[in-house]
Formats: sequence, structure tokens, C-alpha cells
Amino acid sequence: MNQKLTGSFYTPEELVGYMVDYARQKMRIDSVLEPSAGDGRFIRYLSDFGLKIDAIEIDREKVSALKEGYPNKVALICDDYINYSLNNSKKYDLIIGNPPYISKKSMSDEKRNLSCALIEYFQLPEALFQNLWVSFILGSVKMLNPNGAIFFVLPFEFLQVQYAEKLRGFLETKFNTIEIITFEEKVFEDIEQDVCLVYMSNEYHAKPYVKYTTVQNVKNMNVIFESVIMRNKPLKKWSNCILNDIETESLKRIATQFPLIKDFGEISPGIVTGANSFFILNHKQLNITSESHLVPIIHKSSDLNGKLILTKEAFNEISKTNNTFLLNLNQLPESEFSSELKEYLQLGEKEKIHERYKCSSRKRWYDVPIVKSGDLCFFKRFNTLPRLLVNEPNIHTTDISYNIRLNNKYDKYSFAFCFYNSLTLALCEYNGRFYGGGVGELVPSEFKNTHIPYKEISVDKIVKLNSMFLKKESYTQIIDFVDSEVLALPEDQLEMLKEIRNKYLRRRLKKTDEVLLKEAIVNGGK
Ligand SMILES: C[S@@+](CC[C@H](N)C(=O)[O-])C[C@H]1O[C@@H](n2cnc3c(N)ncnc32)[C@H](O)[C@@H]1O
Repeated sequence: MNQKLTGSFYTPEELVGYMVDYARQKMRIDSVLEPSAGDGRFIRYLSDFGLKIDAIEIDREKVSALKEGYPNKVALICDDYINYSLNNSKKYDLIIGNPPYISKKSMSDEKRNLSCALIEYFQLPEALFQNLWVSFILGSVKMLNPNGAIFFVLPFEFLQVQYAEKLRGFLETKFNTIEIITFEEKVFEDIEQDVCLVYMSNEYHAKPYVKYTTVQNVKNMNVIFESVIMRNKPLKKWSNCILNDIETESLKRIATQFPLIKDFGEISPGIVTGANSFFILNHKQLNITSESHLVPIIHKSSDLNGKLILTKEAFNEISKTNNTFLLNLNQLPESEFSSELKEYLQLGEKEKIHERYKCSSRKRWYDVPIVKSGDLCFFKRFNTLPRLLVNEPNIHTTDISYNIRLNNKYDKYSFAFCFYNSLTLALCEYNGRFYGGGVGELVPSEFKNTHIPYKEISVDKIVKLNSMFLKKESYTQIIDFVDSEVLALPEDQLEMLKEIRNKYLRRRLKKTDEVLLKEAIVNGGK
């Protein structure tokens, strides 16, 4: 069966041993549940310790194979774990394993209904259920003894995605001890998925805490980083536990001295075409329709690397070698379509563009809704440095960017200048999330709720910063220059902000400051 559809990526044996030993040394265990046994590697390790073990596995063939190896010691049950947890009142001291990661979209209605029933049981919002691992956590909360522990291998995204925020909050009310173990190197060689270990228990008389530890890899579990949060709970994102209480409090205290980005104007994502490669044309394809039915557009942030200000001339230059013209057929009756345009649309239908989700829900599949452009663009995904730029010619963008239309009293050049300071950049890391490969991202609400120390900046300083970008000076120099103009903070506070951002960069990009600095100098910090 397809590994991805059944969520069957087996835990490395070293990690199985580490997790079982960790739990045994932390608590007294009598009964254990392995909710998705797979090839039985957890139960094989557990069975040496004279514990009462129940193991669930949905796949009949896997259960039969397991039964041959474990005739008496382990109670093997062939069931869907969500079904089992809903219909069983048994309780366990330790629930341990590596649940399947299966997105809601790939599940049958019957399976989805089971998970929804579990969500309803805890009176949690249904939007929380996006993946089967969420249901495995909830099923385990239901089946746990009051002083028991859950220890799971979970996707790293659990620590930071917005849809799981309510789940993290709920778990903070259920458990006083939450320990997260992350890995500097990949755990599963063959897949992109970043994972972490999450251990949750109620330690007798313990003060609630969230602890975040980083180890090298599954073969070398020596701790290379550790941080604990005790005061700043509930912690919206457990991934932010890389900051300790003092750093978290300082960051928040400094941030609240300054306004939020959303206070400066109107902010909205750019155009969703549904198929950029079809709707966004290059200059050779312009014979399809007249200029009045083309909208200049930016759809790749890499086209704008190394710029603080996008000028009309720079955009024209980009247009020579990139696709920058969006087909805008809104209000154009079909009777006025040129034969080239008709042919092009037919080609789109041949390639099934009209059946794509966004296109198929439109009255005419090729009418791309045009939304407003802005004075400034913020690119929602970023590598080393989040990017905000002045959009002088008011060019449209796709939804790669959030477009800002400033209120009249603010100056767009000053706003772009002020953005590149240590506080705002640290907050982008704190408020956002990152994906495998290290790409950072801010969703609209996270961007809007980021603080910025705005002030009017003189033209000569804006010109200087612009030329620093164009000359690809290092980000460190750029940030130092902006800090010196906009952040009147004591040296130790400035240093702390820089260290906070560096902590995130080291985790996200897995690179030290030194390497990042060298790269920034060579590449202009792409
Ligand atoms: C990621 S593997 C983990 C196996 C093993 N626990 C380990 O750590 O190596 C997930 C297992 O969950 C099983 N599975 C998938 N959906 C399930 C469900 N709803 N209930 C119980 N097991 C399920 C799959 O067949 C697979 O064997």
C-alpha cells in the first residue's frame, strides 16, 4: 500500500529505544498503549520490561505478521485507533508511538466522521482537524490515566501552525509538563517532513512549563540547545520556546512601545490567478490580446532581489526576460476575442486549466479577479531576510505578496526604510513559521500584527539605504544602519534583539551567524 496514504514511515530503532528509556526514567509505568503499531518496533522494545502492552494497528496484514512474533505478551488489536479511543473507556499510563500523518483531504468520509466525533467529544472547533495526527493526540488524551504521559513523534508543524493553536492551548490546560525535542539533522532520510518528539505529562506538584531541546540526530541524542518557558503561558506557538522567559518578555516589552503594521493602512494579499503559468504571459505572447486587457504583474519575489525600491524602469527591465503580463479578460465579451486568444484559451482547456479549483469556481474560468495593488509589497515567504519594498509604479502582484496602501500621512519610502530594523525582523521570526528547507512565512494576520518603529526618514538616508541594497552590502550592515536611525535602545537591548533573530535563523536555516554573514557578503544575502 502507498506509504504516504497510510502514513507508514517507521521510526528509526535508535529513536524508539531513546523514547521508551526516556519515559521509563521519568515515570512509573504499568500499562502502555501503542496506537499505530506498524511493524511493531515500539512493542518489541517495550516487551522487555514486563509491562502490560496493548497495541492497535489498522492494517490487517501488519497485525497478522505481528501476531506471529508476539503470541502472548502483547494484546494486539486490529482497529482504527480513532474508533478504538471513542468506544473504549480503558486508561493507560503511557501512550507512545509515531502516529500516521494523513491529511484530512486524503481521508474517506467515514474516517473523517470518526475524527470529527472526537473533536466534538472535547468540544473543540472542527477547523482544528486537518490531519490524522491531531485525532491521535485527542484520542490519547481520552485514554490516558490522570498521571500518565503521551510521547509521540509528531510533525514539526504541530509546534507552529495556526490551525493547531487551539490544540496546543487545550494541551497546556491538560498537561503541566510539555517537553519538545527537535533535531538538528533529518530524522527520516527519504522524506521532507521535519519531525519533533513531544512528551506531555502531569508531574505531581510540578510548576507548568514548556521545555524545548535540540539534539544533533537520532544516533547522537546529546543536547545542543535547551530552553524553558514557565511564565509566558499559554504559548501560542510552542516553536517560540527557543526563547526563554526573559527574552520573550523583553521582546514583547520593546515591541509594545511601537505601533502595529496594520495601524498604517490597508493590507491585503495580491491576485490569485489559479494558474500563474497560464495567465501570466511574457512579452512574446502579447499578440493574444490588446494592451488594455493585460495587467502588469509581479509573481516571483526573486525577480526583485536586492531592491528596496521598485521603479518603473526596473520593472520594464524585468519584463524583458520574465512573465509579467496578466491576462485580464473581465468585461470583455467573447464576441470580441481575437482568434489568437480563442486558440490560447482552447489550449488552456486542453491542459485542464479550467478544471483547477480556483478556475472552476469562476463564472468564466478565465476571468481572474483583479484585486488592489499597493504602495508597498511584503513578500510573505522569505529566506534570510523578510522583504518589503516600495512599489513606485503600483504594479499588481500575485498572492506571493501582501500589498500595503498607506494612510495619507505616512511616507512609503520611510516605511520601507524603517522595516529593516532588528526588532521588526525578530518579530517576523517570532510571529511566523517556517517550512522544511528553512523558508519562513507570515500569514496576513501575523504580518499585520508585527510592530514597526516608524518615523519620517530624510531623503539622503533613504538614498543611502537603497544604494546599500543595490550594492548588495551585507544584511548586518543594512540592519545596523537602520537600527541606528530608528531604534533608540540601550546597547544590551539591541544586542538581545539581534541574538533573538539569530536564534531563529540558526534553527530555520541551520547555519551559524558567521556562515550567514559570509553568504550575505558574497550573494547580497539572497
Ligand atoms: C508512521 S507508522 C508508525 C509505525 C510504528 N509505530 C513506528 O513508529 O515505526 C503509522 C502506522 O499507523 C497505521 N495506521 C494508519 N491509520 C491508522 C489508524 N487510523 N489507526 C491505527 N493505525 C493506523 C499504519 O498502517 C502504519 O503502520
